[in-house]
Amino acid sequence: MNNQGHDTHPTKKDLAFLYARKQAQQKITMLTGYDYPTACLEDEAGIDIILVGDSVGTNVLGYASEREVTMADMVHHLKAVRRGVVQAYLLADMPYQSYATPPVALDNAQTLLAHGAEAVKLEGGIEQVETVRRLTAQGITVCGHIGFTPQTLHQPGRRAKVQGRSFSQAVALLESAMALEQAGAKLLVLELIPEPLGKAITACLHIPTIGIGAGRFCDGQVLIIHDLLGLTPFHLKFVKRYQHSRDLTRQAMAQYKRDVEQGLFPSEETAFQMDEAERINIETWMQQRHLH
Ligand code: KIV
Repeated sequence: MNNQGHDTHPTKKDLAFLYARKQAQQKITMLTGYDYPTACLEDEAGIDIILVGDSVGTNVLGYASEREVTMADMVHHLKAVRRGVVQAYLLADMPYQSYATPPVALDNAQTLLAHGAEAVKLEGGIEQVETVRRLTAQGITVCGHIGFTPQTLHQPGRRAKVQGRSFSQAVALLESAMALEQAGAKLLVLELIPEPLGKAITACLHIPTIGIGAGRFCDGQVLIIHDLLGLTPFHLKFVKRYQHSRDLTRQAMAQYKRDVEQGLFPSEETAFQMDEAERINIETWMQQRHLH
């Protein structure tokens, strides 16, 4: 370790590392990341998985919905994150319609891998089994995503709804989880489901589950980095804010505005000076031309 707490001999985290954590009942940590500096910090903080999520659309690009995110958007952000990651396992979301059929999915998954992803995530249950099989048959590591699936369920301006509260919905999600595992998925995100269902799915699977709004008993946890940092303008029940970046950032910007307007910044200490003789030469040059 160096004096900032960073591992000076980093070991790359791979799927075996993540499975070993599940085996040892040690939680897996995952955060979304969309840019180079954030990816560097997440990696330095020892986060196990960085997800270049399609939540980049609503959190960074100002889109109304995840559905607007394109493959070009994903590749752009994935490449930036890749440059910042040393140790973490790098997972990329497949955007809406990029896995509409198994051949389309294969093509797009290969594009994401070619730009640095180690695995791809796609949303959906039983209906995605064929696609998951097709990708895993080609050696592509797939992470499933069930429960609340923003690409199909998110409605702009509406609160995301907890899924699987009734017995029949819960069983459908359990069956989806098992079908995805059987099809070859190596990780599974569980979003916005009741805690007992998160616990039951985790107990039924061999692959690690990563929860978001899924209670305490998943193998790991994921949060959107903007939610964790308090950059999102709203607060959601399942989120823990570790910082209030909106307030802090707004205060810093307002202070900067005041400083500039009051002549406090730039200050003498932040300005570059020049030799006195050179300065006088400039003044003389201006005077000769009646420039002041
Ligand atoms: O895109 C995303 O950020 C996600 C997480 C909510 C898991 O899919």
